[in-house]
Amino acid sequence: MRPGPRGIRCHAYSRAQTGDGGEVSTQADSVARIPLRGGSPIPQLGFGVFQVPPRDTAEVVAKALAVGYRHIDTAAAYRNEAQVGQAIRASGLDRGEVFLTTKCFNDDHGYEQAKRAFHASLARLELDYVDLYLIHWPVPAHDLYVETWRAFIDLHSEGLARAIGVSNFQPAHLRRLVSETGQTPAINQVELHPYLQQPGLRHEHRELGILTEAWSPLAQGRALGDPTIVGIAAEHSRSAGQVVVRWHLQLGNVVIPKSVTPERIEQNFDVFDFELSGAEMEAINGLDAGTRIGPDPETFVRP
Ligand SMILES: NC(=O)c1ccc[n+]([C@@H]2O[C@H](COP(=O)([O-])OP(=O)(O)OC[C@H]3O[C@@H](n4cnc5c(N)ncnc54)[C@H](OP(=O)(O)O)[C@@H]3O)[C@@H](O)[C@H]2O)c1
Repeated sequence: MRPGPRGIRCHAYSRAQTGDGGEVSTQADSVARIPLRGGSPIPQLGFGVFQVPPRDTAEVVAKALAVGYRHIDTAAAYRNEAQVGQAIRASGLDRGEVFLTTKCFNDDHGYEQAKRAFHASLARLELDYVDLYLIHWPVPAHDLYVETWRAFIDLHSEGLARAIGVSNFQPAHLRRLVSETGQTPAINQVELHPYLQQPGLRHEHRELGILTEAWSPLAQGRALGDPTIVGIAAEHSRSAGQVVVRWHLQLGNVVIPKSVTPERIEQNFDVFDFELSGAEMEAINGLDAGTRIGPDPETFVRP
């Protein structure tokens, strides 16, 4: 271990297998690992696999691990947990080097059901534990998320979920979990990108000591043609995607861009040798329009 950015410890240099069995050098040690309540530190830059078809997932995750990502974000609802587990096991990396998140979906709320869903995920992954288990959506209409959270607390006590958190929770949902169970989620994974910056929710996270994790961090590509972002990218001779990933990192967000394109997988990770100025950060902060591309967490039940 050696000191990383902002005093955060970073993991040592390591190597991974490529999909074709070759071994490549990685820059895994460039990524800050942020302390996570109750679990192992979380690599601030991870790799998302939403909408990666199962048949492509093992190859895409192998590519990400070879590039240096050490944090993979999947979910039962993505239907590619098995292939994610397969890629991690085939990587040649120690299990402890890879941080894995999966999520409990909306039909699996409730104490017993959530526990069953967790064990089904673990069986599909063919792993002994996950690093982070998230309640995918609060589904307030079913009013079961507190019971689900009680199951999560027990899975954490059993060491099967090294850390537990939530996704798409609003301030009232977070406060209810804390007041009714006394256990604060380690992290809240929410839609967050230049067009939806969630200042109120991020403030609430700081108050409660919850990490902020950004999903659809590139606004699914929609932020990448923005003239402000394109202009900043040109100044740095970087891509718009790299500028947006860098903006998240400098804000302190955990960030999990997704791509199935090898060059973009590399590009989104190659963000540790430039820095956005205060003025550039402010210019991107000024793009917030409060615009969601995903569902409203207050009402979302099923796709
Ligand atoms: N908790 C939740 O409810 C929730 C919801 C949504 C997502 N997530 C998580 O967040 C992750 C990321 O979100 P996301 O997949 O919705 O969207 P995203 O990461 O914001 O954007 C992915 C899109 O941007 C493209 N892209 C990626 N890098 C690029 C680059 N450098 N230049 C140009 N285009 C680029 C990708 O294209 P190609 O793939 O074709 O290269 C893809 O179309 C997901 O994979 C998932 O793990 C969580």
